[in-house]
Amino acid sequence: MPDTLTITDNRTGKRYELPISEGAIRATDLRQIKVAPDDGGLMTYDPAFMNTAACRSRITFIDGDNGVLEYRGYPIEQLAERSTFLETAYLLIFGELPTVTQAAEWKQQIGARLAVPEAVRGLTASFARDAHPMGMYLSAFGALSALYPDSKRIADEPTRRLQQHRLLAAAPTVAACGYRHGTGRPFIEPDPSLSFPGNFLAMLFTGDRPYTPHPVLERALDVLFVLHADHEQNCSTSTMRGVGSSHTDPYAAMAGAVAALYGPLHGGANEGVLRMLTEIGSVSAIPGIIEQVKAGKRRLMGFGHRVYKSYDPRALIIKQTADQVFAVTGTNPLLDVALALERIALEDDYFVSRRLYPNVDFYSGLIYQAMGFPASMFTVLFAIGRTAGWLAQWEELVNDAEQKIARPRQIYFGSARRDFVPLEQRG
Ligand code: SDX
Repeated sequence: MPDTLTITDNRTGKRYELPISEGAIRATDLRQIKVAPDDGGLMTYDPAFMNTAACRSRITFIDGDNGVLEYRGYPIEQLAERSTFLETAYLLIFGELPTVTQAAEWKQQIGARLAVPEAVRGLTASFARDAHPMGMYLSAFGALSALYPDSKRIADEPTRRLQQHRLLAAAPTVAACGYRHGTGRPFIEPDPSLSFPGNFLAMLFTGDRPYTPHPVLERALDVLFVLHADHEQNCSTSTMRGVGSSHTDPYAAMAGAVAALYGPLHGGANEGVLRMLTEIGSVSAIPGIIEQVKAGKRRLMGFGHRVYKSYDPRALIIKQTADQVFAVTGTNPLLDVALALERIALEDDYFVSRRLYPNVDFYSGLIYQAMGFPASMFTVLFAIGRTAGWLAQWEELVNDAEQKIARPRQIYFGSARRDFVPLEQRG
């Protein structure tokens, strides 16, 4: 049988043969379907892009029905167990795991750029102490766009590579600027001799004495960065691609991606989960929350996913990582509430029938809290990990000859043409 779709337009009786490729038809092939020569042709209407592929990508593969996540073909379970965030970032951007030489060069290039311009620290210091860290984090990337005007030469590969080094290096440092400002403590200079997570933890938690992170916590944070590194065309990555499609610089594009991630339906959910678990407080209060959710009064934060209609594989790995962290920090009392909430929800038809399972955000906050991070920092931690995916997807966009500036169509259902009415004649 041919890879084609036969469409009969019953308005005209005409038949059309549309080619099917990689499980899709081209939406622009529908524009030939008209009822009159001046008809613009058929469009697809797809609010929130529930069934629309905006790009072809070789970076991340998700099988939502079977809980599969692979970065460049490597299962997330193997990368979480055996790789590091910097190595995973290299894999996502370049498509292959680095050799020993490539890995050393990658770490050196990023390590040499961990410090951010003084202007970023000044910008962060200009915020109120209780400013949300994601708001400060977001503003810093707009500032970096102004501080690195050379980054606008996006067609130049060495320039793109330099920005990728700068952005992967800046992410933890910008986050640390906001955290130290919010806690009223002086900024700690980055230390390239430490690991990526180790340097980040030291910039955050160094007090009067030098801070050496517990190796289990350092490794757990690296695993969490790996798990958050990419997730194909999610809201913030689609924003990175959308903003990037106008050929702006990667800092401006990333400011857009950070803004999208900030939302409670997306990266902001991990903070929402912890606030929800704290509000619940005890296992006995869970039935009341479940009833509120089923009555449509609230959402169960950390549950559900546009793509995963089974358990998010990242949530499983995070649950395992939590055990290792709690063995060092002591368990988080909210863990019992979370485990009971998951058990009760997954026995309730409301969640089962809608295929709502814990997602990446359901347990991550419990680990972050146990490691000493305030809930307001949780989405910033998500953003640091996702920096790798945003940059990989941006690189793929820039090199994709099929891509143009993103400009969706619309269905207009507003007022028909009418003449202006002077103020004095308006009723
Ligand atoms: C992330 O896209 C990605 O890949 C994102 C991400 C990544 O790595 O980039 O995985 C990270 O953002 C994970 C999701 C974090 N967000 C949350 O945990 C917030 C709570 N979850 C939801 O708001 C929701 O599940 C979404 C936003 C995640 C997905 O929403 P969809 O796919 O648009 O689903 P929907 O809103 O159309 O819901 C379908 C049904 C509805 O019920 P009915 O109208 O059919 O009766 O399921 C219900 C929803 O009301 N539903 C929920 C629910 N999620 C969906 N009901 C209660 N609690 C929830 N969490």
